[in-house]
Amino acid sequence: MVCLGNICRSPLAEGILKSKLNTEHFYIASAGTGPWHVGNPPDPRSVAIAKEHEIDISQQKGRQFSPYDFEEFDRIYVMDRSNYQDVLRLAHNEQEKSKVSMLLNNLFPEENVDVPDPYYGGEDGFKKVYDLIDQACNSIAQELNNQTNS
Ligand code: 4NP
Repeated sequence: MVCLGNICRSPLAEGILKSKLNTEHFYIASAGTGPWHVGNPPDPRSVAIAKEHEIDISQQKGRQFSPYDFEEFDRIYVMDRSNYQDVLRLAHNEQEKSKVSMLLNNLFPEENVDVPDPYYGGEDGFKKVYDLIDQACNSIAQELNNQTNS
C-alpha cells in the first residue's frame, strides 16, 4: 500500500487490509514515495479513525518505497495518480510495472479515481478516506481469498 507520506492513507490501507486477511498467509505492508516521515508513526487522525473501527495502526513506522519492493511484493496498490507515476518511474521492467494499480480501481474499474490526500483537511477527510479504503480492501480481500480457496 503506497501513498506520498506513509502517515495518512497507506498506514490505514495496511491496517484495514490486514484486518480482512489471514496475515500468516499474506504479507501486507505500506510505504510512502517521499522520505519526510521515515520512522514516524502514522498521523494521529489516521490512528484515531482506525481505532474507531477497532484497528490499531499506532505501532506502524513510516518507510520510503524502495525499488526492491517490486521483488518483495506481488501487488502494489497506490492511492493516487501521482503515486502511480512516482512508483512506475522506479520499475525496472514491464513485469514490475504490471504489479502496480490504483487502489480504487478495485471499486471503480479503469476510472483511476484518487484516494484524496486528507493531510491538509479536517477530520471529515479521514472518515471519507477510511470508507473508500475499507470498500476497496473488501473487494481485494474477497479476490485474494477466492484465489487461495480455489
Ligand atoms: P499521505 O498524506 O500521503 O496520505 O501519508 C501526506 C502526509 C504528509 C505529507 C503529504 C501527504 N507531507 O507533505 O508531509
